[in-house]
Amino acid sequence: MISMAILGFGVVGSGCAEVLTQNKDLICESCGSEIEIKYILDLRDFPDSPFADRVVHDFQVILNDPEVSLVAEMMGGSHPAYEFTKACLCAGKSVVTSNKEVVSNFGTELLQLAEQNGVSYLFEASVGGGIPVLRSIYVDLASNRIRSVNGILNGTTNYILSSMKEHGTSFDDALAQAQKLGYAEANPAADVQGLDAARKVAILCGLCFGKLVCPASIPTTGITGISGKDVEDAAKLGYAIKLIGHADVKDGKITALVSPRMVPLSNPLSGVSDVFNGVLVNGNMVGDVMFYGPGAGKLPTASAVVADIIDIVSGKGGAVKKPHFVDAVPEDLADFSSYACVRYFRVSNSLSEVSAVFGTDALHLLTGDGYVSVITAAPMSEREADEICEKLDVLSTMRVL
Ligand code: HSE
Repeated sequence: MISMAILGFGVVGSGCAEVLTQNKDLICESCGSEIEIKYILDLRDFPDSPFADRVVHDFQVILNDPEVSLVAEMMGGSHPAYEFTKACLCAGKSVVTSNKEVVSNFGTELLQLAEQNGVSYLFEASVGGGIPVLRSIYVDLASNRIRSVNGILNGTTNYILSSMKEHGTSFDDALAQAQKLGYAEANPAADVQGLDAARKVAILCGLCFGKLVCPASIPTTGITGISGKDVEDAAKLGYAIKLIGHADVKDGKITALVSPRMVPLSNPLSGVSDVFNGVLVNGNMVGDVMFYGPGAGKLPTASAVVADIIDIVSGKGGAVKKPHFVDAVPEDLADFSSYACVRYFRVSNSLSEVSAVFGTDALHLLTGDGYVSVITAAPMSEREADEICEKLDVLSTMRVL
């Protein structure tokens, strides 16, 4: 029998208890051992929950109980989740988590601590919700050098963009619905401003390229500037707007960014809708591999947390192959102003003014009531895109995938 504790009994924490209970027999068979939830740490009480008798309010109860060998941290936020994780690892308890904020900011240190103490720190649920993407990268794609990753990494924003496109829902109404469904962060600004996706890109950089890039150094634009007009315009041009996390490595330099992009309908990411996430990984041996599934929500995310628990318990306290990375330093990062991609511009200038700037160098051109939309034929750098914005009256601009 393995005794474990759950830290945080919110959406994912309660989902974890539900998965462990509902699939108890299956999980026990897979682990070769029964898993007991001995404690649940939360500030609140849950008198109506079947787990009411496990709730404690003092973390020390868990830390000082030698029977607890495994802790699932699903508190969210950096503090005190980081301090609690550190304390558990130092006390010889393995930790699994869905907490992107902690992994992306402190993952290197926490992996080292786990190693030093002969335990595991696993975080499958921190990227892609229920999609088994991280373990696939560090186990199943281990024979590859990963060249790039492009992903729809935030369920809330994908849900909002899909609702705007499919049902003409307003941004605010779609966000309220995503909150109601339990997809959004406690502070949804982290979703809509792109920070949640940037944290996931940081973690992907760690596992794909061995360097955990600090989320604060990832150029990030969210979806708050996207209007119904942009969505409509994109559809007319044959694109879908998606919040894309991108990372690649060339000549040892990493480029990482998060921004809304026009995704051509020929790209499988364009068809990833609602709360679903999609992650396209390019390895130098395998080529393109796509991961797809529910990117947020109670049971999907909890299913990934429990996968880590099974990995640790069935490995008798340690996963067989563990994630590993070091912190990226500034020299590991490419000069972002040179990053080049095809661009979309919607401008209020006349067609002749547009032609004077782009010449015939435009792949798609759409004219509407008082605007011209352009998709460039060739990639342009961030610097060149800024120059276009100085020359024309740009209503909207986006990178194209
Ligand atoms: N708020 C996150 C999302 C939860 O919407 O993707 C899953 O990480």
